[in-house]
Amino acid sequence: MRKVLVLGGGGREHALAWKLSQSSLFDKVFAAPGNPGIAQVATCVPVRKPSPQDYVEIARHVEADLTVVGPEAPLAAGVVDAFRAAGLRIVGPTQAAAQLEASKVFSKQFMVRAGVPTAHAVTVDNADAAEAVMDEIGFPIVLKADGLAAGKGVIISPDKDHAVAAVQTLPPGKIVVEEFLQGEEVSFIVLATEKGGWPLAASQDHKAARDGDQGPNTGGMGAYCDGRILSPEQEADVMARIINPTLQAMADAGTPFTGFLYAGLMMTASGPKVLEYNVRLGDPETQALLHRLDSDLGAVFLENEPFRWKPDPSVCVILAAYGYPGAIRAGDQIKGLDQCPATVFHSGTAGEGDYFETAGGRVLGVTSSGPDLATAIDNTYAAVKTIQFRGMHYRTDIGRKGLKRW
Ligand code: AMP
Ligand code: GLY
Repeated sequence: MRKVLVLGGGGREHALAWKLSQSSLFDKVFAAPGNPGIAQVATCVPVRKPSPQDYVEIARHVEADLTVVGPEAPLAAGVVDAFRAAGLRIVGPTQAAAQLEASKVFSKQFMVRAGVPTAHAVTVDNADAAEAVMDEIGFPIVLKADGLAAGKGVIISPDKDHAVAAVQTLPPGKIVVEEFLQGEEVSFIVLATEKGGWPLAASQDHKAARDGDQGPNTGGMGAYCDGRILSPEQEADVMARIINPTLQAMADAGTPFTGFLYAGLMMTASGPKVLEYNVRLGDPETQALLHRLDSDLGAVFLENEPFRWKPDPSVCVILAAYGYPGAIRAGDQIKGLDQCPATVFHSGTAGEGDYFETAGGRVLGVTSSGPDLATAIDNTYAAVKTIQFRGMHYRTDIGRKGLKRW
């Protein structure tokens, strides 16, 4: 009886638990803490205190043969180090390697040292110092708070007046003042092992709250995964210029990277450049990716089975709660889930049985596919129409940018 444990409780972790529940190599899936959607495919275990030691105890208690970490917080806290010290198998980077995401300042310095293409930037200690370097960088300009901010610590300002006011709203601490890059964003994720990085299919997130990439940034309002996002040549170029030098530099620094490495890329006229690293899978990219993954995910982890992808593109549309990405309202009853023909990943719900209500900003990820991208988009939005809750909102243009490739 082989068992796998997923750490986390969002839509990405629901997709992981869903895909692992279909693996021929695992008989049982656990999640800590999980969520009401995950509870439909796995056994959820409460987390008393989200500390590395508590996770070790949970893994021991459920006798997990493998643990897969979803979010960055446990990684930044050293969960992988604790598991390895306890002799337990886990997928993810060590605390030292997780620094790539935890600090924008660290990752920028790292990219410059490793020769990885990225936006020109200056790091400063506070808002006043940021103001002093703005003219040197030029406008539009990008302002980034140093620490973890759940995708919300980045401001793009069109001009100096806006930037001077906006920089004061960032949390205290160092600020990276960065050149604005033009192009299309691509989420490029690899599974890094001792033997190298194995690329997943490219996907695209939609970070802005509203259609047409308008409105404030969110954790991600939807994603699609389509074999046409990058050509084989572009993928090879990203591996050669970005992923391999990153993994090499991490190893050279004595902090080899294992687990999922996510490079947020801007495909600029002068080639791919890294906007950010994440040390984990993306949310909602994972929902679209795993929906399209043909391989047995358990075999990918345990037997180095290669990633194989279904030809059909997949699309995930996030249904958000009233108020998101600002202060949200919880407790709105969700209706129509049992009518929905798509795969619905739960991100922020409460409830059980057939009663569910909103309990987070991103509530559900409605995910479907089709023989071409236009049909995948239509199928997904048709499925979205079956679900209702008060204050529900979503972007209506997820995947649209990809249509030009068909
Ligand atoms: P980050 O957390 O660094 O990925 O930034 C969040 C989002 O801000 C990115 O997904 C981009 O949409 C945007 N962004 C960040 N840096 C830049 C940049 N240098 N140029 C243009 N857009 C950027
Ligand atoms: N979807 C972007 C992220 O997970 O950071």
